[in-house]
Amino acid sequence: MAVQISPSILSADFSRLAEEAKAVQGADWLHVDVMDNHFVPNLTLGVPVVESLSRATDTPLDCHLMIEQPDRWAPAYVEAGAGSVTFHAEAAAAPVRLAREIRAKGARASMALKPATPIEPYEDLLPELDMLLVMTVEPGFGGQAFLDIMLPKIRRTRELISRHGLEMWLQVDGGVSADTIERCAEAGADVFVAGSAVYGADDPAAAVRALRRQAEE
Ligand code: DX5
Ligand code: ZN
Repeated sequence: MAVQISPSILSADFSRLAEEAKAVQGADWLHVDVMDNHFVPNLTLGVPVVESLSRATDTPLDCHLMIEQPDRWAPAYVEAGAGSVTFHAEAAAAPVRLAREIRAKGARASMALKPATPIEPYEDLLPELDMLLVMTVEPGFGGQAFLDIMLPKIRRTRELISRHGLEMWLQVDGGVSADTIERCAEAGADVFVAGSAVYGADDPAAAVRALRRQAEE
């Protein structure tokens, strides 16, 4: 399991996105939180911004769609240049069809679970996905406290992935920091989203390196 770090630009300065993307040189992905003010009570950015960002950075984009009707909108994010597209299980009408469409268009397909959504009903869908995202806060805002009560779900998800012999990645998002990343790694996560812990630091690239070291320990 190789550790990957995906800094979330939600905590960056939106008026300087291109520079902020370059400030995390060495990160594996750039996590782009798309919010529609319906699925979550916050509004961020959409397809045109993702298109511009993908031209502005060589770091692949990890688009996390916190939107209603992802079946309708997710393919446009692949076309806009995303390397990975995550839709929410709670919002997708046809997750298998959607995951296949994302893959067919050339991106990695990923599904996210809000804290109250269990993994077990989705066990048989895992082979259709390249990554599963276990939210460790209620989606909508950066800077929230990590929910320790999600650790058992991370552990159970890793067990299911192993039991099925799958190569898929397990991402955690929300409150991931120097204080919590080791617990996440120990529970079986291998892709770590960090917003405030990276962009709140004086040196975001150094924060990425420090998080990676901690997760690898
Ligand atoms: C929250 C977003 C996260 C957010 C994480 O709904 O999905 O990606 O940016 O921010 P931190 O790391 O500050 O919790
Ligand atoms: Zn996110």
